Amino acid sequence: MSHAEDHAGTRRDFLYYATAGAGAVAAGAAVWPLVNQMNPSADVQALSSIFVDVSGVEVGTQLTVKFLGKPVFIRRRSPEEIEAARATALADLPDQLSENPNKPGSDASDENRTLDEAGEWLVMIGVCTHLGCVPIGDGAGDFGGWFCPCHGSHYDPAGRIRRGPAPRNLDIPLASFLDESTIKLG
Ligand code: FES
Repeated sequence: MSHAEDHAGTRRDFLYYATAGAGAVAAGAAVWPLVNQMNPSADVQALSSIFVDVSGVEVGTQLTVKFLGKPVFIRRRSPEEIEAARATALADLPDQLSENPNKPGSDASDENRTLDEAGEWLVMIGVCTHLGCVPIGDGAGDFGGWFCPCHGSHYDPAGRIRRGPAPRNLDIPLASFLDESTIKLG
């Protein structure tokens, strides 16, 4: 290799690295605003709790509210639904472990999933744990709870998966009674 070729090669390498370096800086500058946009904005943070008036919810019906971008089912269960859910043995559940964040360490027995001890109020995130469709409620499916029509997941009256591809029971959000007709989510 002549001296001239050697020099040219070195110069090309230098240009290549300089260009790559500039590209990396530009990419870095473009990525940061995107990451920054993914942080919750002030108005979203302000909505990290909401208060829901449940005084108009009749026995055997449910209210669906939107919370943090997801549907939340607030169901006031009938005595029949409570009885069916409480009579189900833990051993019959595909998912016996998914926990209620309001009762850390709890298993999936019906007593651990409801908001009140009597089991009338059930609050759950209305998103199928398979691939995220919104299940149909009001006693739908083969177990009298919810049914996800996307791929056929059947949930029972406690929102627990009983048959189909969903891997987990419907999730429970942070929730509590503020007074007898107001539920706080978050
Ligand atoms: S998303 Fe519900 S069964 Fe697939």
